[in-house]
Formats: sequence, structure tokens, C-alpha cells
Amino acid sequence: MTVNFNNAHEMILMARRNLSQDTWDYICGAAESETTLRRNRLALDCLAFRPRICRDVREIDTCTTFLGNKIRIPVLMAPMGSISNFSPNGAADVDTACEEFGTINFISTVTEPSLEVIAENSPHPKSFQIYVRGDDQWIRDLAKRAVNAGYSSITLTVDSAFYGNRERLSPWQVALRNVPARAFQKGITWDTVKMIQDAIGNVPFVIKGIQTAEDAAIAAEHEVNCVYVSNHGGRQLDQVYGNIDTLPEIVKAVNGRCEVIIDGGFTRAGDILKAIALGANAVAIGRLQAWALGAGSSDGLVKCLEHLEIEIERTMGLLGVTSLDQLNPSYVGESRPVRLPHEHSAFSHLPGGRIE
Ligand SMILES: Cc1cc2nc3c(=O)[nH]c(=O)nc-3n(C[C@H](O)[C@H](O)[C@H](O)COP(=O)(O)O)c2cc1C
Repeated sequence: MTVNFNNAHEMILMARRNLSQDTWDYICGAAESETTLRRNRLALDCLAFRPRICRDVREIDTCTTFLGNKIRIPVLMAPMGSISNFSPNGAADVDTACEEFGTINFISTVTEPSLEVIAENSPHPKSFQIYVRGDDQWIRDLAKRAVNAGYSSITLTVDSAFYGNRERLSPWQVALRNVPARAFQKGITWDTVKMIQDAIGNVPFVIKGIQTAEDAAIAAEHEVNCVYVSNHGGRQLDQVYGNIDTLPEIVKAVNGRCEVIIDGGFTRAGDILKAIALGANAVAIGRLQAWALGAGSSDGLVKCLEHLEIEIERTMGLLGVTSLDQLNPSYVGESRPVRLPHEHSAFSHLPGGRIE
């Protein structure tokens, strides 16, 4: 597929034209009042940069690592379900794009094709994200299937005991809500974490959906390899903090015992670099990834990441840093927002709120 857009504004409009209203609402929507969704953006908008000057920024390195694997920019692909509704080959398109560009993707339990088909799609490292749809034996079998297929880490999502009440009405969401096996999610405890860790041996384990220092500390005590700070893009519990607001307390609680990644509202290089400055190892993108796929499947996603890489390099240069490890909390400070937040409010030339 040939896909051509000059910036994310054009990409998002292209995706909107390609996708039905139902699919658009599935991607963009969030739970109940959508306060969490908006706070994710608001929290990012309430941080301003404190750039440093007169530094030689002719050579800039945007690379970092995630769980020992090099990535070209500090941006990972958050797990998403039902991807074949907005990209023809589902999660295989994400995988193809990540292999080509050079970053790591999380593959959801509830996307297509099967985890084995995606593993065979490319040799590059990727994480398998578990949603619990059965008893302990079912969980262990699924984790081992992913390990045997070659996934480089296993991720457990822990923020979904109930399916979030998303009210941008789409027939799919009603169907998804009514899957009886979802009830197994309610039984996840720290014993489940331990059980999966035992089942996968030395393969790194990521816990997704941490929102407090208290739980981050417990996760670190359980020797997880990565705490993934997330409120599910506002799709689960409404009325929580914007994720970047909780990042400093979580980084402090973890105290270097494991990696910390974050998602929720990240759509610009500046957003990503704010999180790196506050101690995240990398940032994951959900909706931005979906819009890129909607605009042009795997080619659209590669192009989106290429644009992001240029934006990250430029922003790093303007901040006066040449590598990501030079960023620290002194590069950001509290400020006031300048616009009403919503899922694509970082793109100020688009119409506000829900696009119909
Ligand atoms: C369309 C869509 C489907 C999602 N499906 C999953 C999923 O299957 N598993 C999961 O752990 N998180 C899922 N999420 C949440 C994302 O992994 C991520 O936490 C969230 O999208 C980050 O916020 P952002 O969309 O503002 O970047 C989904 C998000 C979206 C937008």
C-alpha cells in the first residue's frame, strides 16, 4: 500500500476517512465521562520544558533499549485488541512495521491472527500480553505457548477486572462486554503474577496497569522486569490521574529495581521526552498506533514512526541533549494548559473532540 501524509494531522484525517464511525469510536472512545482519557492529555499539557542552550547538538542519538533489546526511538506499540477491524492483517501489520522500523510491539490476547502466526511473521523481539480467559491451567498454557513461540517477554494486564463502561456506542463494544470468559479477569491477584513468572522461567515479565507507588513497590518486590504505568488509555476506570502525574512516585518507588514504561495520551515527541525526563525507560502508544494503521496499515505505521523519529530528534536538539540518558526531571516543570484536552488535542488544526 502506498501511503502519503506529511504530518500526523493528515494521517489522522486519512484514518478517519478510511474507517467507519463504529471503528473510529472503538479506537478513540474511553470509559464513562472520559475524564481519565482527557486527564492523560491534560497532565502532559501541564508540564513545560526547561531547555538548555549552547550545547553541541550536531549528533543526536534517539535510540534506547527495552528489556535488553535496542529500539530506534523510545516508543513501543501498546497492545491492542481487534486490530483486524482497522488494519487488514491485524497485529501482523503492527509486527511487520516494528520489524521494519526497529521497535518492539505488544501482542494482545484478543487480536488476530494467532500468537504463533505473529511469531512467525518476523524474528524481532516482541511481548505477548495476557488477558485471562480461563483457570490457572489455561493461563499457564497460554504463557508457555507464547514462550515456546519465541516471544521475548510476557505481559499481564491487571487493570481490567471489569470491562470498562465505554459509552461511545458501538455494537462491537456491547459484544465485547458480553464475553462470559472475561469474568476470569476478576480473579487476578499477586499469586497469578507469581504463577506466570514460575511458568515462564527466565523470560522477562511485564505488569501492565500500575497506577500507584504502592502497587509499583509490590511489583518490584515480586521481581517483575518491568512496571508498565497505564490506565488503559482511560478505557477502564474513569476519574483516575493522568498517567504522567503518577510517573514520578512510581519511578521513586521502583528505585531502579526494574524498568518503567508508560502510556496514555502520548502523541507527540514532546510528550514522550517529558516521560523520559521523569524517569520512564520508554513510552507506548495506543491510539496513535491505531490511527497510523487506519491511515495505511503497516506502511502507515512505519511512516508515522519515521515522522515521530524526526520530531524526537528535533525536540532533543532544541532541549540541548544529544542522548536520552541526558534527560532528567530538571528538564520539565509545572505549567498551565492552553487548550481543552481530548484524544487528539495535540493536533490543534483538527476539529475538537469526537470526529464524525
Ligand atoms: C483500540 C484499543 C484496543 C486496546 N486493546 C488492549 C488490549 O487488548 N490489551 C491491553 O492491555 N490494552 C489494550 N488497550 C490499551 C492500550 O494498550 C494502551 O494502554 C492505551 O491505548 C494507551 O493510551 P493511548 O491510546 O492514549 O496511547 C487498547 C487500546 C485501544 C485504543
